[in-house]
Amino acid sequence: MSAPPLLAVEGLSCRFGGLLALNNVSLAVQEGEIFGLIGPNGAGKTTLFNAISALTTPSSGQVLWRGQPIRHPRPDRLSRLGLARTFQNLRLFDSLSVRDNVLVGLHRFAASPLAAGLLGTAGVRRRQRQLEQRALELLALVGLEDGADLAAASLPYGERRRLELARALATEPRLLLLDEPAAGMNPAEKNDLCELIRAIRDRFDLTVMIIEHHVPLMMRLCDRLAVLNFGERIALGTPEVVRHDPKVIEAYLGSPR
Ligand SMILES: Nc1ncnc2c1ncn2[C@@H]1O[C@H](COP(=O)(O)OP(=O)(O)OP(=O)(O)O)[C@@H](O)[C@H]1O
Ligand SMILES: [Mg+2]
Repeated sequence: MSAPPLLAVEGLSCRFGGLLALNNVSLAVQEGEIFGLIGPNGAGKTTLFNAISALTTPSSGQVLWRGQPIRHPRPDRLSRLGLARTFQNLRLFDSLSVRDNVLVGLHRFAASPLAAGLLGTAGVRRRQRQLEQRALELLALVGLEDGADLAAASLPYGERRRLELARALATEPRLLLLDEPAAGMNPAEKNDLCELIRAIRDRFDLTVMIIEHHVPLMMRLCDRLAVLNFGERIALGTPEVVRHDPKVIEAYLGSPR
């Protein structure tokens, strides 16, 4: 029997008052995949990420992690399971340094009060140095090692996006959810980010779910994609399949008269 998918969404619906933001959406993401989520504005993409990461409670349906329903999901529990995400509207600690923003992501590896008692002061200091070293390695990976001491707020927008990526990676996720990580970047920066995401997937053996509006870029980056429109999953498959799906063409171009 084949292993269950890393993540599966089954019959997920999310209602906000009279609006059905997600309508009975199902999909499964296999370990190691780069899985894309596309669709027009307001299609429900971020809502799907919010439901997966326990920031929104679905009206019905469930989310499975390696075949098991996630019971009483809470963002901190999901982080321990191995789920990390970035946000469409960046959520950095602006007044903290770039390095400290990554250290926030590393906090669960810091010495607990109990471990600190066992390690002693020298041990705690050594652990802290290791974490700082790890933060610098992650910053180097996203090309931000020179800005480690700057305030996060002082970085240009594209670099702030990469910082959020480094912070998400710090939690050592198995599944990384990226909500429009290339928003506000120019075409060259978007291409670089694409390469970086692929390199990160390969290096950490990660699974990635990504939302991005630039369809040609998604077609190049993703192994498979799902297309949402008005809360419904209207297509699912390889870029080749999705590209030629009449429903997708209609959603993006409007129905032919
Ligand atoms: N907390 C909420 N309360 C009420 N309505 C909401 C809430 N969150 C999302 N919505 C609505 O649900 C719909 C889907 O929103 P969502 O943010 O998931 O879309 P999206 O596909 O991510 O769009 P975009 O590409 O613009 O980011 C929209 O109509 C939005 O206004
Ligand atoms: Mg969104």
